[in-house]
Amino acid sequence: MTWIVRRLSSRVQRDFPCAAERGLWYNVRRMELLEAHSIVKEYRLPGQKPIRVLDGVSFSVAAGEHVAIVGRSGAGKTTLLNILGGLDRPTDGDVTLNGESMFRGLGAARRRNRLRATAIGFIFQSYHLLPELDIVENVLLPSMTGFAAVSGARARARDLLGKVGLSGRLDHLPAELSGGEQQRVALARALMCRPKLILADEPTGNLDRLTGAEIMRLLFEANDEPLAVAMVTHSAEAAAMCDRTLTLEKGTLQVLSGVQGKTPPV
Ligand SMILES: Nc1ncnc2c1ncn2[C@@H]1O[C@H](COP(=O)(O)OP(=O)(O)OP(=O)(O)O)[C@@H](O)[C@H]1O
Ligand SMILES: [Mg+2]
Repeated sequence: MTWIVRRLSSRVQRDFPCAAERGLWYNVRRMELLEAHSIVKEYRLPGQKPIRVLDGVSFSVAAGEHVAIVGRSGAGKTTLLNILGGLDRPTDGDVTLNGESMFRGLGAARRRNRLRATAIGFIFQSYHLLPELDIVENVLLPSMTGFAAVSGARARARDLLGKVGLSGRLDHLPAELSGGEQQRVALARALMCRPKLILADEPTGNLDRLTGAEIMRLLFEANDEPLAVAMVTHSAEAAAMCDRTLTLEKGTLQVLSGVQGKTPPV
């Protein structure tokens, strides 16, 4: 019986995302925060056979849960993370955030933009700060999309920079900071719009061990509310700090360690 309800519920969410948006199906089953449904990704280059990088990836991340994704270089980790965050489109399959479809149904593009702006924070290995803006302006950027009005935005940006230990550097440009300090700015920027989920692509990849551990600590502690984190990493130490580690191999995800749905204490 349960599987019939699940199938029906996800079919309705896929085909009638407006119903999901109004919360009509929220109580039918317990939904995870983020769900990847059979994600397939193929790259097609002219005159060549398509390269299938993801071959039916399904997994979920619960609210407040920290999940590490590992795998060899070229396995498709960045590709998967970009699809989870709506930065790239899957060839097949779907991603839902709080039950809202990112790629299916009417108005998916606008819904995806809204979810990206309001519910997801991104952190990248190379920080991706804008060099001509000072660090307060960099942190303010996500609040300027039109989807995510943040009251008292400038005060919040300063407050977040204080939380990551940069209150003395507010008028500095990114080039005047170390790599670890730039990644702290990127973390403050990711938290700006009070996301539910952080997607991080090798956030400690350019940092030494101690600085990397400090970024991980801030990632888990700098936010007032518990945050879900899906993090791609090559660092065994960073992965060990997560609740669960999944490995991406031959286009699919396998559990390496941890128990699904384990939520850290609030
Ligand atoms: N735009 C693209 N066009 C064609 N192939 C691509 C494209 N982007 C990625 N690929 C290929 O897809 C595969 C997965 O790339 P991806 O960047 O997701 O790997 P990764 O697991 O993040 O690797 P790394 O650990 O080195 O960052 C690689 O073989 C890559 O060459
Ligand atoms: Mg990558």
